Amino acid sequence: MAEKILEPSNFDLLKKLIEKPDTTFSEAIQIAELGTTYKRTGFHFDKRLEKQGDAISYFKKNNELSFVTDQSAKTHKLITGDNYPALLNLLVEYKGKIDVIYIDPPYGKDSMGEFAETNYENAITRDNLLSMLYPRLYLAKQLLSDSGVIFCSIDDRNQAYIKCLFDEVFGESNFVANLIWKCKSGGANDSRFFAIDHEYVLVYARNTNNFVLQLDKEAEVSTSYNLEDEKGRKYALDRLDKQSLGWLESLDFPIIAPDGKIYKVEHKNPTNKIARWRWGKETVKERYNELVFKDGYVYTKNYQKEGAIPRSLLITDRFGRTRTGKTDFSDLFGASIFNNPKPYKLIKYLIQIASNNNTIILDFFAGSGTTGQAVLELNKEDNGNRQFILVTNNEKTDTTPNGIAIDVTSKRLKRVMTGKCYDGASDFEWAKKNKPLGGNLLVMDIAEVSNFEAVKGKTPFDVIDETLYGKEKSKTIKEKVEWVCDNFEGTQKRLEE
Ligand SMILES: C[S@@+](CC[C@H](N)C(=O)[O-])C[C@H]1O[C@@H](n2cnc3c(N)ncnc32)[C@H](O)[C@@H]1O
Repeated sequence: MAEKILEPSNFDLLKKLIEKPDTTFSEAIQIAELGTTYKRTGFHFDKRLEKQGDAISYFKKNNELSFVTDQSAKTHKLITGDNYPALLNLLVEYKGKIDVIYIDPPYGKDSMGEFAETNYENAITRDNLLSMLYPRLYLAKQLLSDSGVIFCSIDDRNQAYIKCLFDEVFGESNFVANLIWKCKSGGANDSRFFAIDHEYVLVYARNTNNFVLQLDKEAEVSTSYNLEDEKGRKYALDRLDKQSLGWLESLDFPIIAPDGKIYKVEHKNPTNKIARWRWGKETVKERYNELVFKDGYVYTKNYQKEGAIPRSLLITDRFGRTRTGKTDFSDLFGASIFNNPKPYKLIKYLIQIASNNNTIILDFFAGSGTTGQAVLELNKEDNGNRQFILVTNNEKTDTTPNGIAIDVTSKRLKRVMTGKCYDGASDFEWAKKNKPLGGNLLVMDIAEVSNFEAVKGKTPFDVIDETLYGKEKSKTIKEKVEWVCDNFEGTQKRLEE
C-alpha cells in the first residue's frame, strides 16, 4: 500500500480473502484480476471495481413492457439497467451458452452515460471507457460458449486501446480479425485533416481452435465454376503446379497419369526454378483419384461453395452506413431521438457469418436495439430460430425523458416484432413497408433487495423469481432457498452464519 501498488479498498479485500479462503465468486474473480494487473508489457488497465454493497441485484419482470405474440414463438429478452449486474445475473442461466456477442460501447461521448466520459489527458487512469469495459468483458467471456465469438464496434480514436484490452481479456491467440467498416460515403469536406470514413469491428473468439466462421452467402461468387461433375456439382480446374510458390526439390517430382503419360512441373526458366506442385508425394498418392490430367497439365477440382470466405473490408452498401442506421431508425420513430444507431444490415451480416441458425446472441450495450432487429431480420431471411438477449441502461437524454430503454429500445422491438406501437397505433413508415417480424419479448428490470431483508414476502427468497432464470418453479422452500444461495452472491454466507 505504501508503494501505491495496492488501493486501500483492495487491501481490505485481500485481507478478507486471506482470512476467509472460501470466499464468494465475484471477489475471487476480482482478486485474480488484481493479481495479474502488472503482468503485461507496458499496458496497465485501471479496473473500476464495482460497488460491493449488501444488496442483491436480480431480474424483475416488467409486465408493462413484456408481450407475447404467439405462445409457440421464440421469447427474446430485453434487460434494462446497468450491464454489470445484468451480466452477473445472466451467468446464472447462460454460463458458456452464448454463441455470439456483439457490443457497441459508448465511444467517449459525454452524452452516452456517466461512464462514457473519457479523459485523454490523464495517463494513469487512461479513461473511463476502458476501466468500465474491463470487468464487463471478463463476465462476458464466461458467458461465451467454447466456439463462441465476440464482436466489438469501435471508432478510429479508441480502436488501439480497446484492441489491447481485448488482448488482455481474451488473449492475443484468440484475436480473429479487425474488420474495417465503411461508415460514410461522402461529406465531411470540412474535416481539418482526413475525412474519416471508417470504423472498426474487432473480432475475438472464445477459443480460435473451436471457432468456425461461416461462408458469406451473399458475397459475389466467382462465375468461373463452369464444369459439372457426375453429381451435378459445379467446379473449376486449378493447376496443381503453381508458378509463384517457390521451388522445393521435394515438391518437384514426376506424376504418372493412368494412361502412363508422365507429367512434370513446368519451369518457364529452367535455370531459375520457381514453380512446384501444391501437393506433396503422399497427398498425390492418397488423393490420386481427384486429379485431372488434361492438355499437358495436372489439375485439381475446385468446387463451388455456397458463398465466399468473408472479407475483412466491409465497404459495399450491403453493410449499411451510419446514414442507413439513421433511416432504419426514423422509419420506426419518425424523429431521430437516438444518436447514431448502427445499421441493422451490418450486425445481421456479423451474426450470419458467426453462427448457425439456432444460436443465442447477446448485446450488452444495446442502445436502440439494432441487434434485436438484426436477429429477427436474419431469422426471417433464413428461417432461423436464433434468440436475442439485449441489455441497455435506461439513460435519460433530452430526447428520451423516460430513459432509452423505455422510450427507444422496448418501443423499437415492439414495433418490429408486432408491427404496432404499445398503444396499438401502426402509423409509422416501417409498418407500411414490412410485415411484423414476430416473436415474444420478456422485459426484465434490474431490481435490488437487501441481503438482510427479513420482512415476510420481501426477502431475497420471496422476490427472486427462479423462472426468470430458466429454472422450473421450486417445489419446496428448501429447494428455493438453496437455489438462491447457490446463485446469488453473499446470501449463502449469511445463511450459514
Ligand atoms: C453506442 S450506443 C449503442 C448503439 C447500438 N449499437 C444501436 O445500434 O443502437 C451505447 C449504448 O450503451 C448504453 N450504455 C452505456 N453504458 C452502459 C452500461 N454500463 N450498462 C448498460 N448500457 C450502457 C448507452 O446508454 C448507449 O445507449
